Formats: sequence, structure tokens, C-alpha cells
Amino acid sequence: MRTPGYFVSFEGGDGGGKTTQARLLGDWLAERTGREVVVTREPGGTALGAELRQAILHGQDMDPRTEALLYAADRAHHVASLVRPALDRGAVVVTDRYLDSSVAYQSGGRELSADEVERLSLWAVEGLLPDVTVLLDVDPATSAARMTGDPDRLERAGDDFHRRTREAYLRRAAADPERWVVVDAAGSVEQVHAQVRDAVATRLRLAVVDPAPVADPAPVVDPAPVVEPVETTTPAPSLDAAP
Ligand SMILES: Nc1ncnc2c1ncn2[C@@H]1O[C@H](COP(=O)(O)OP(=O)(O)O)[C@@H](O)[C@H]1O
Ligand SMILES: [Mg+2]
Repeated sequence: MRTPGYFVSFEGGDGGGKTTQARLLGDWLAERTGREVVVTREPGGTALGAELRQAILHGQDMDPRTEALLYAADRAHHVASLVRPALDRGAVVVTDRYLDSSVAYQSGGRELSADEVERLSLWAVEGLLPDVTVLLDVDPATSAARMTGDPDRLERAGDDFHRRTREAYLRRAAADPERWVVVDAAGSVEQVHAQVRDAVATRLRLAVVDPAPVADPAPVVDPAPVVEPVETTTPAPSLDAAP
């Protein structure tokens, strides 16, 4: 189901840098493509979503089906009211978490079947999948070192839960390498950003990113040689060639 816009999602455990990298990629894509860029998140990318987010992450404990349905409700509203209209306008949408979070967390972590959770989410969004999904793969030590502040309900869920969630993500990425890019989240913000940028540019078939560095001018020898001007053009980003 193609739309005129482009849809990128970030996935992975907490502390991997999704929020940081979504923002950096959004800024870069805006500059690179000249398109409108919408950076958003799940849960909580809309006003209703913010209420659902509060209930899911900070509300009372709930059974796995209730949790899965609340995430799906947030996602349905997010896509219907924000993501799909933006894609239909030709915008680039970058979301910090999407449907794969539900599959990894609710099935990998919470013991519902991955198939049921995926079907529920696909129904909620009428089948909309990202063009590229970046998995910021983060090991528990890195994640723990970066998480500060009060943990939310899922952050408190324990090492085993997080290990199973990470494995669920990696399995899912391995099963669909066309859509997924796995990036090691352990590098510096700039290193991770460079990898994300290159991977996304390749997947979206953006034209070559960086202009060749300009060499220092050679020392001028008298008389200066006459150099014909060479026309240099930077190719426009060709998003249209994307799959
Ligand atoms: N590559 C990185 N190296 C070190 N610290 C980072 C890196 N990326 C993000 N951080 C910091 O780690 C914390 C979690 O990052 P964040 O982007 O919120 O991750 P996530 O959204 O995946 O939970 C933030 O304080 C952020 O500034
Ligand atoms: Mg975040």
C-alpha cells in the first residue's frame, strides 16, 4: 500500500537512543529532501494518545490483552489522524516506536502470540508498514547506564523481560531484511546517527549524501593556469525511485 510520503520507524529497547536519533534523522531528512518532515512517537503521538500513554505506562497494572488493545487503540488513532494524512501529503514521517514495539514487547516480553499481536496492530492501521525500520540494538548494560529518572511500568519489568524483547526484535529484523536495518546503539550519538543516515538514505534511495570534500586549493604558481569552469550539480534527492 504505497503513499506519496515516506515512513521511517525507530525500534529497540529503552536507552538505545530512539528519541535522540529520530529527531536527528528528522532534521537531516528535512534538509536533504526539502520535504515536510513529521517526527512523532508511540504511544502518545496525539492528544488522545497522550492519555492512553499515561494509562499504559503509569497507570495501574493490567493484563496483557488490555495492554495490547490500548497500544493498538493509540496506534489506530495515531495513524488515522496524523501519520496517514502526512504521508498522503507527501511528507516524511519518522516515528519513535511503531507496531513492531507491540510485537516485540507484548509477545516477546508478555507471552501473547506474536501473530495475534501483529494481526491486531495491522488491523488497527489498515496494513500500514514503514518503508524502513531502524532497530537500535542495545545491550542491557548500555541501556541501564543511559536510563536515568523514575522507571515507568515497562522499564521496571526486569532483565528477563528485556532480554526476551531484544531477542524478539532481532528475530523480527532477521526475518524481514528488506524493511529492517539493525544498528549497534553502543556508539556515540554522532556515530549512530551516521550509520542511521546512511542506511536510511540507501533504503529510500536518496541520492548520494555528502558532496565530495573540497580539496585545499593548490598554491598558486605564476602564471595561474586558465581553468575552464566546470559545472557541478548536486543531484536532487530522488525519492521517487524508492520501492
Ligand atoms: N549514542 C549515545 N551515547 C550516549 N548517550 C546517549 C546516546 N544516545 C542517547 N543517549 C542518551 O541516553 C538517554 C536515552 O536516550 P533516548 O534517545 O531517550 O533513548 P530511547 O528513546 O531509545 O529510550 C538520553 O539521556 C540520551 O541523551
Ligand atoms: Mg525515548
